[in-house]
Amino acid sequence: MRYIKIFDTTLRDGEQSPGASMNVEEKLHVARQLARLNVDVIEAGFPVASPGDFEAVRRIAEEIRGVTVAGLARAKDVDIERAAEAIKPAESGRIHTFLATDIHLKYKLRMSREEVLDAAVSAVKKARGFTDDVEFSAEDATRSDWDFLCRVTEEVIKAGAATVNIPDTVGYTIPQEFGELIEYLMNRVPNIDKAVISVHCHNDLGLAVANSLTAVLKGAGQVECTLNGIGERAGNAALEEVVMALKTRPKFFNAETGIITEEIYKTSRLVSKITGMVVQPNKAIVGANAFAHEAGIHQDGVLKERSTYEIMKPETVGIPQSKLVLGKHSGRHAFKERLRELGYELGDEELNKAFERFKRLCDQKKYIFDEDIETLVSEEVKKVPEVFSLMDLKVSSGTSVKPTATVRLKVRDEVVERTEEGDGPVDATYCAIARITETKSHLEKFEIKGITGGTDALGEVMVTLEEDGHTVRGYGSDTDIIVAAAKAYINALNKLEGRKREPQKGI
Ligand code: KIV
Ligand code: ZN
Repeated sequence: MRYIKIFDTTLRDGEQSPGASMNVEEKLHVARQLARLNVDVIEAGFPVASPGDFEAVRRIAEEIRGVTVAGLARAKDVDIERAAEAIKPAESGRIHTFLATDIHLKYKLRMSREEVLDAAVSAVKKARGFTDDVEFSAEDATRSDWDFLCRVTEEVIKAGAATVNIPDTVGYTIPQEFGELIEYLMNRVPNIDKAVISVHCHNDLGLAVANSLTAVLKGAGQVECTLNGIGERAGNAALEEVVMALKTRPKFFNAETGIITEEIYKTSRLVSKITGMVVQPNKAIVGANAFAHEAGIHQDGVLKERSTYEIMKPETVGIPQSKLVLGKHSGRHAFKERLRELGYELGDEELNKAFERFKRLCDQKKYIFDEDIETLVSEEVKKVPEVFSLMDLKVSSGTSVKPTATVRLKVRDEVVERTEEGDGPVDATYCAIARITETKSHLEKFEIKGITGGTDALGEVMVTLEEDGHTVRGYGSDTDIIVAAAKAYINALNKLEGRKREPQKGI
């Protein structure tokens, strides 16, 4: 069977989903879980883009073992040097350099084809000065001239690229056409056997996974993908779908990956919690309904013989069979162990705080489910430096009173209190917070959900704020939904403050 490398770009292309940006600690949590999932390559960021991206790639390169850590770089010396610096501590480090080969030449880069060819070759040679593991991507390959793409591929391989990536940058191609392109390259590029051909498909037409799998059939040896398919615009090929298609149809593809599929579900949950990007219920493999049989005839069939309506077993992707986990009497050790199983490895201080919150939750709620623990701990992990913190909140509302909220916040070292009225208790709370923080941001989205069933469930609130063209997501949870809403708003405002302090991505 052919071995297909899984190149995970959740931390780079995935992070480019609007509002999904992750801080360094969050990226480290995801990277640790990606290592447990056993991906072949983690693309950890774009080091030249911002000090935060550089730091994330460097920390991941320092800590993660047994997986190649890649840093992205345009075909420019400054980018390549920065990427090289960031991946230096890695056990196995890759520089992934890219340059457009199509309409971008005329409109974006204003370069001729010969200039592009020279720049691509120079970039690969420069990167090879730092590492033997260099990948070249021909950005927007699917809209490029096929013969020119063959030339570029041949030359970058000669220059030392061990992997050549054929991205469908704007999600334009169709499976049959993409298959033909990969076949064309395989047949026309004389030294193609000296490199791994990789594919990187975007999902603008909903075909990213289909295109990637067709490319595998035609000889691609690496697939670039993200958990839950997050990424620019409509996202990237979903890792879990590519991997499970190959695993479920081994004879058809004659190909396998090294992914430990039992880790898929928890990785998906972790990424969803950390990025705030909710997984749709009908999402293949990891959606809440992916293994739910509603029709009576299906349920009957599955009970008699699972394979009647199930092509995969939920346990193969790590969907927990029993959901009730811990309770009031659970100790710190059991809590830590459960967290580890859910993909969270916390330092002592983080663990202590999370355990305190767990114990408080046990006093409020009889049954503690995995989802409760994930919610509680992800809030701890997602902590951002706090300019604003909630000290107190009092709300009065009902059928015969005007909803009013009194909010007390700590703003840097000062304590400020305000009372405001609103259209409802959340609106009143948000008006008070907005007045105290003097925010200029605009609330784009407000989502609220109960984590588990029951009126004592943790309520989870996600808000999206926009200011000066930047979007951030804030997140809060509590058994009191108004408090959860306040926490989410304050979390988002703290993220905006953080952005103001950190130099922005220049790319
Ligand atoms: O979509 C794309 O072309 C990319 C490249 C940088 C590989 O993300
Ligand atoms: Zn991409």
